[in-house]
Amino acid sequence: MKELERYILEHGEALGEDILKVDAFLNHQIDPMFMMELAKDLKEHFKDKNINKIVTIETSGIAPSVFLGYLLNVPVVYFKKSTSKILKDALYQTKIHSFTKDIDYQISCSKKYLNENDHVLLIDDFMANGEACLGAIDLIKQANATVEGIGIVIEKAFQDGRAKVEAQGYQVYAQARISSLHDGEITFCE
Ligand code: G4P
Ligand code: NA
Ligand code: NA
Repeated sequence: MKELERYILEHGEALGEDILKVDAFLNHQIDPMFMMELAKDLKEHFKDKNINKIVTIETSGIAPSVFLGYLLNVPVVYFKKSTSKILKDALYQTKIHSFTKDIDYQISCSKKYLNENDHVLLIDDFMANGEACLGAIDLIKQANATVEGIGIVIEKAFQDGRAKVEAQGYQVYAQARISSLHDGEITFCE
Protein backbone atom coordinates (compact mmCIF):
# COMPACT_ATOMS: atom_id res chain seq x y z
CA MET A 1 0.00 0.00 0.00
CA LYS A 2 1.85 3.04 -1.36
CA GLU A 3 0.09 5.51 0.91
CA LEU A 4 1.30 3.59 3.97
CA GLU A 5 4.86 3.62 2.64
CA ARG A 6 4.64 7.39 2.23
CA TYR A 7 3.22 7.68 5.73
CA ILE A 8 6.03 5.57 7.21
CA LEU A 9 8.68 7.63 5.41
CA GLU A 10 7.11 10.85 6.67
CA HIS A 11 6.27 9.81 10.25
CA GLY A 12 8.39 6.73 11.00
CA GLU A 13 11.84 6.55 12.48
CA ALA A 14 14.40 3.74 12.30
CA LEU A 15 15.85 2.90 15.71
CA GLY A 16 19.07 1.05 15.11
CA GLU A 17 19.06 -1.74 12.54
CA ASP A 18 15.81 -3.46 13.38
CA ILE A 19 13.18 -1.31 15.08
CA LEU A 20 10.81 1.03 13.28
CA LYS A 21 9.16 3.60 15.50
CA VAL A 22 5.67 4.60 14.34
CA ASP A 23 4.39 6.20 17.54
CA ALA A 24 3.11 9.14 15.48
CA PHE A 25 0.17 7.21 14.02
CA LEU A 26 0.02 3.62 15.30
CA ASN A 27 1.78 2.82 18.60
CA HIS A 28 1.16 5.86 20.77
CA GLN A 29 -0.76 8.57 18.98
CA ILE A 30 -3.39 7.11 16.67
CA ASP A 31 -4.43 8.76 13.43
CA PRO A 32 -8.07 7.72 13.01
CA MET A 33 -8.43 9.05 9.47
CA PHE A 34 -5.41 7.02 8.43
CA MET A 35 -6.61 3.93 10.37
CA MET A 36 -9.75 4.10 8.21
CA GLU A 37 -7.60 4.12 5.06
CA LEU A 38 -5.73 1.06 6.32
CA ALA A 39 -9.04 -0.64 7.08
CA LYS A 40 -10.42 0.10 3.58
CA ASP A 41 -7.35 -1.52 2.05
CA LEU A 42 -7.73 -4.60 4.27
CA LYS A 43 -11.43 -4.82 3.41
CA GLU A 44 -10.60 -4.74 -0.31
CA HIS A 45 -7.85 -7.35 0.05
CA PHE A 46 -10.06 -9.82 1.91
CA LYS A 47 -13.31 -9.09 0.04
CA ASP A 48 -13.71 -12.68 -1.19
CA LYS A 49 -13.51 -14.16 2.30
CA ASN A 50 -16.48 -14.83 4.49
CA ILE A 51 -15.49 -13.20 7.76
CA ASN A 52 -17.69 -12.94 10.83
CA LYS A 53 -15.09 -11.75 13.34
CA ILE A 54 -11.84 -9.79 13.53
CA VAL A 55 -9.27 -11.06 16.00
CA THR A 56 -6.22 -9.12 17.18
CA ILE A 57 -3.84 -8.78 20.13
CA GLU A 58 -3.77 -5.87 22.53
CA THR A 59 -2.66 -3.11 22.34
CA SER A 60 -1.63 -1.80 18.97
CA GLY A 61 -3.61 -4.22 16.82
CA ILE A 62 -6.85 -2.83 18.18
CA ALA A 63 -6.96 0.49 16.34
CA PRO A 64 -6.84 -0.76 12.74
CA SER A 65 -9.05 -3.74 13.72
CA VAL A 66 -11.87 -1.60 15.06
CA PHE A 67 -12.07 0.43 11.85
CA LEU A 68 -12.10 -2.78 9.81
CA GLY A 69 -14.75 -4.28 12.08
CA TYR A 70 -16.84 -1.18 11.50
CA LEU A 71 -16.49 -1.47 7.71
CA LEU A 72 -17.28 -5.21 7.71
CA ASN A 73 -19.98 -4.85 10.36
CA VAL A 74 -18.47 -7.61 12.51
CA PRO A 75 -17.22 -7.72 16.13
CA VAL A 76 -13.57 -7.33 17.06
CA VAL A 77 -12.04 -9.59 19.73
CA TYR A 78 -8.64 -8.71 21.14
CA PHE A 79 -6.55 -11.32 22.88
CA LYS A 80 -5.46 -10.12 26.30
CA LYS A 81 -1.96 -10.09 27.68
CA SER A 82 -2.83 -9.38 31.30
CA THR A 83 -3.58 -12.30 33.57
CA SER A 84 -7.28 -12.58 34.05
CA LYS A 85 -9.22 -13.19 37.26
CA ILE A 86 -11.79 -15.35 35.52
CA LEU A 87 -11.55 -19.11 35.83
CA LYS A 88 -8.81 -20.64 33.73
CA ASP A 89 -11.15 -23.25 32.29
CA ALA A 90 -13.23 -20.46 30.78
CA LEU A 91 -10.20 -19.28 28.79
CA TYR A 92 -8.07 -20.28 25.86
CA GLN A 93 -4.47 -19.49 26.77
CA THR A 94 -1.06 -19.80 25.20
CA LYS A 95 2.47 -18.62 25.86
CA ILE A 96 4.39 -16.40 23.44
CA HIS A 97 8.09 -15.66 23.34
CA SER A 98 9.07 -12.19 22.21
CA PHE A 99 12.54 -12.08 20.68
CA THR A 100 12.39 -8.27 20.44
CA LYS A 101 11.67 -7.87 24.15
CA ASP A 102 13.31 -11.13 25.30
CA ILE A 103 10.35 -12.08 27.48
CA ASP A 104 7.62 -14.72 27.57
CA TYR A 105 4.03 -13.64 28.00
CA GLN A 106 0.58 -15.24 28.02
CA ILE A 107 -2.28 -14.29 25.77
CA SER A 108 -5.79 -15.36 26.57
CA CYS A 109 -9.31 -15.23 25.20
CA SER A 110 -12.60 -15.95 26.91
CA LYS A 111 -14.39 -18.97 25.45
CA LYS A 112 -17.45 -16.73 25.22
CA TYR A 113 -16.01 -14.76 22.35
CA LEU A 114 -14.50 -17.37 20.03
CA ASN A 115 -15.90 -20.71 18.96
CA GLU A 116 -16.17 -23.24 16.13
CA ASN A 117 -18.65 -21.09 14.22
CA ASP A 118 -16.16 -18.27 13.81
CA HIS A 119 -14.37 -17.43 10.56
CA VAL A 120 -11.80 -14.92 11.63
CA LEU A 121 -9.49 -12.40 10.09
CA LEU A 122 -6.36 -12.07 12.24
CA ILE A 123 -4.94 -8.53 12.26
CA ASP A 124 -1.82 -7.12 13.92
CA ASP A 125 0.23 -3.95 13.69
CA PHE A 126 3.67 -5.56 13.28
CA MET A 127 5.12 -8.83 12.20
CA ALA A 128 8.71 -9.40 13.28
CA ASN A 129 9.54 -12.98 14.26
CA GLY A 130 5.95 -14.11 13.91
CA GLU A 131 5.60 -15.37 17.48
CA ALA A 132 2.55 -13.24 18.30
CA CYS A 133 0.87 -14.38 15.10
CA LEU A 134 1.62 -18.06 15.80
CA GLY A 135 0.31 -17.66 19.36
CA ALA A 136 -2.88 -16.06 18.07
CA ILE A 137 -3.30 -18.91 15.55
CA ASP A 138 -2.89 -21.37 18.42
CA LEU A 139 -5.77 -19.73 20.36
CA ILE A 140 -7.96 -19.70 17.24
CA LYS A 141 -7.25 -23.42 16.79
CA GLN A 142 -8.05 -24.13 20.45
CA ALA A 143 -11.44 -22.55 19.79
CA ASN A 144 -11.90 -24.70 16.65
CA ALA A 145 -12.46 -21.48 14.75
CA THR A 146 -11.20 -20.96 11.18
CA VAL A 147 -8.47 -18.54 10.11
CA GLU A 148 -9.77 -16.91 6.93
CA GLY A 149 -6.84 -14.56 6.56
CA ILE A 150 -3.96 -12.78 8.23
CA GLY A 151 -3.47 -9.04 7.74
CA ILE A 152 -0.45 -7.17 9.07
CA VAL A 153 0.04 -3.42 8.85
CA ILE A 154 3.86 -3.44 8.84
CA GLU A 155 5.99 -6.50 8.14
CA LYS A 156 9.71 -6.44 8.83
CA ALA A 157 10.54 -8.71 5.90
CA PHE A 158 14.17 -9.03 7.01
CA GLN A 159 12.97 -11.07 10.01
CA ASP A 160 11.57 -14.58 9.75
CA GLY A 161 7.92 -14.13 10.80
CA ARG A 162 6.38 -14.66 7.37
CA ALA A 163 8.39 -17.83 6.71
CA LYS A 164 7.33 -19.33 10.06
CA VAL A 165 3.64 -18.54 9.53
CA GLU A 166 3.65 -19.72 5.89
CA ALA A 167 5.35 -22.95 7.01
CA GLN A 168 2.15 -23.66 8.95
CA GLY A 169 0.13 -23.26 5.76
CA TYR A 170 -1.18 -19.70 6.16
CA GLN A 171 -0.86 -16.76 3.78
CA VAL A 172 0.11 -13.36 5.11
CA TYR A 173 -0.98 -10.03 3.63
CA ALA A 174 1.20 -7.14 4.79
CA GLN A 175 0.24 -3.58 3.89
CA ALA A 176 3.86 -2.42 4.01
CA ARG A 177 6.94 -4.63 3.81
CA ILE A 178 10.20 -3.23 5.14
CA SER A 179 13.29 -4.79 3.59
CA SER A 180 15.87 -2.89 5.65
CA LEU A 181 16.38 -0.23 8.30
CA HIS A 182 20.09 -0.01 7.61
CA ASP A 183 21.82 3.27 8.63
CA GLY A 184 18.55 4.87 9.64
CA GLU A 185 17.18 4.54 6.12
CA ILE A 186 13.78 2.89 5.71
CA THR A 187 13.66 0.67 2.60
CA PHE A 188 10.63 -1.23 1.32
CA CYS A 189 10.45 -4.51 -0.57
CA GLU A 190 9.90 -4.13 -4.34
P1 G4P B 1 6.75 -11.21 16.84
O1 G4P B 1 5.49 -11.41 17.58
O2 G4P B 1 6.54 -10.94 15.37
O3 G4P B 1 7.71 -12.35 17.07
O4 G4P B 1 7.37 -9.89 17.38
P2 G4P B 1 8.06 -9.56 18.74
O5 G4P B 1 7.59 -10.48 19.81
O6 G4P B 1 9.49 -9.49 18.43
O7 G4P B 1 7.46 -8.13 19.01
C1 G4P B 1 7.12 -7.75 20.31
C2 G4P B 1 6.35 -6.46 20.31
O8 G4P B 1 7.12 -5.45 19.63
C3 G4P B 1 5.02 -6.46 19.62
O9 G4P B 1 4.25 -5.45 20.20
C4 G4P B 1 5.37 -6.01 18.22
O10 G4P B 1 4.25 -5.43 17.57
C5 G4P B 1 6.39 -4.99 18.51
N1 G4P B 1 7.37 -4.78 17.47
C6 G4P B 1 8.24 -5.66 16.93
N2 G4P B 1 9.05 -5.04 16.08
C7 G4P B 1 8.68 -3.74 16.08
C8 G4P B 1 9.15 -2.59 15.39
O11 G4P B 1 10.09 -2.62 14.59
N3 G4P B 1 8.52 -1.42 15.66
C9 G4P B 1 7.48 -1.33 16.53
N4 G4P B 1 6.93 -0.14 16.69
N5 G4P B 1 7.01 -2.39 17.21
C10 G4P B 1 7.62 -3.58 16.96
P3 G4P B 1 3.61 -5.62 21.63
O12 G4P B 1 4.62 -5.78 22.67
O13 G4P B 1 2.64 -6.73 21.49
O14 G4P B 1 3.01 -4.25 21.88
P4 G4P B 1 1.65 -3.51 21.59
O15 G4P B 1 0.83 -4.27 20.63
O16 G4P B 1 1.04 -3.40 22.91
O17 G4P B 1 2.10 -2.23 20.99
NA1 NA C 1 1.52 -5.61 18.37
NA1 NA D 1 3.58 -2.95 19.18
